[in-house]
Amino acid sequence: MLEQALQAAAALPDGDPLAAASALRAAGFPPDLAAAALTQVALRRKAAAKFGADAAVMHFTRAGLEQATRGPVAARRAARLAAAGATHVADLGCGIGADTVAFARAGLRVHAVDASAEAAAAADANVRALGLADRVHVETRDATDVALDEVDAVFCDPARRTSGGRRVFDPRAYSPPWDFVVGLAARVPMTVLKLAPGIDHALLPPGAEGEWVSVDGDVVEAAAWCGPLATAPRRATLFQGAEVVSLTGTGLASAPVGPVGNFVYDPDGAVVRSHLVAEFAATVDGTLADPTIAYVHTASAVPSPYGRCYQVLDQLPVAVKRLRGALRSLDVGSLTILKRGSALDVEELRRSLRLSGTRAAVIALTRVAGAPAVLLLDRVTGAGLSTAADPAGAAGR
Ligand SMILES: C[S@@+](CC[C@H](N)C(=O)[O-])C[C@H]1O[C@@H](n2cnc3c(N)ncnc32)[C@H](O)[C@@H]1O
Repeated sequence: MLEQALQAAAALPDGDPLAAASALRAAGFPPDLAAAALTQVALRRKAAAKFGADAAVMHFTRAGLEQATRGPVAARRAARLAAAGATHVADLGCGIGADTVAFARAGLRVHAVDASAEAAAAADANVRALGLADRVHVETRDATDVALDEVDAVFCDPARRTSGGRRVFDPRAYSPPWDFVVGLAARVPMTVLKLAPGIDHALLPPGAEGEWVSVDGDVVEAAAWCGPLATAPRRATLFQGAEVVSLTGTGLASAPVGPVGNFVYDPDGAVVRSHLVAEFAATVDGTLADPTIAYVHTASAVPSPYGRCYQVLDQLPVAVKRLRGALRSLDVGSLTILKRGSALDVEELRRSLRLSGTRAAVIALTRVAGAPAVLLLDRVTGAGLSTAADPAGAAGR
């Protein structure tokens, strides 16, 4: 009956929930079942962004979908774990099973556990729906109760939200508890931890590789690759459309400092968070105009996937009144404002500039040699120059 209700709900047009509920009830489905099917179909539609075609047959809880790893990110992690020789992985806190599915597809056996019976049921339904049940054992269980003697690898993606759904930023508030999570590598050397992008580098387990992952310019997660899985101290992995690029380094190097360049790169968030700005700067022969600011300046525009490239057209006055005058004399009406190293509130500045011209412009609020600076920029996108996505919300207004 649920399957029929799901099919009937999926066949209805997206958009009018009341009309959809009436249509399902008119077709003979009880109100509770109709409501559950409509919720599930709405979650499946939303989940297509993370899971593509798989979403149409998967089962989700709202919280489980929000916390789930995107399909391509989970697939890459699973392939790396398989390539390292793992054969049987414990997925501790499996949620709706996004990583579980990816591990199984990579050929690993999986012992998936979640303290939430609802999440474990969704994970179990998902491995069945995707034809992977022969490789996966799903259990409702507290991760801290799992004996790890049968597995040769562990993956743990702790919950980073309160029961009310708010994000927690302090790892000590993670569940399972942080001490348990960081202690896993001492029990099973091939351990991977999925962590919040804001994790302090100092909290990574000693010797672990810290990886920061972005998808089309948004940093989505950090991961700690422990023991024999660590292949570099720090890694930035950028998913850009169908392409994936990776940059590695120590995370400790400082980029050389120089003048404002003809061109400036705004590095991808994964490069900045992984502390690999110096490594990125070396790939484009770049320098910083201020040792504390991650804009990379160059003499020429070099193709790079690791940052968005802009031509530096001018330096503008910092004081609002004079900045307004300069932008008005350029007939600017639509302004994209980038910022690194400035305390100015972008929206407040935009309001106080009161621009009404006809042209679009880009400015960066930043620092040059320790002093506040405003750079007038023009995005360079020619011939494969930078594939990095534009930052969300930076569109000119
Ligand atoms: C971030 S989600 C996992 C998402 C999963 N990796 C995915 O991509 O679908 C964390 C999960 O850990 C579970 N959890 C929290 N504390 C736990 C514990 N002590 N034992 C087992 N599971 C736990 C939560 O119920 C939640 O489903």
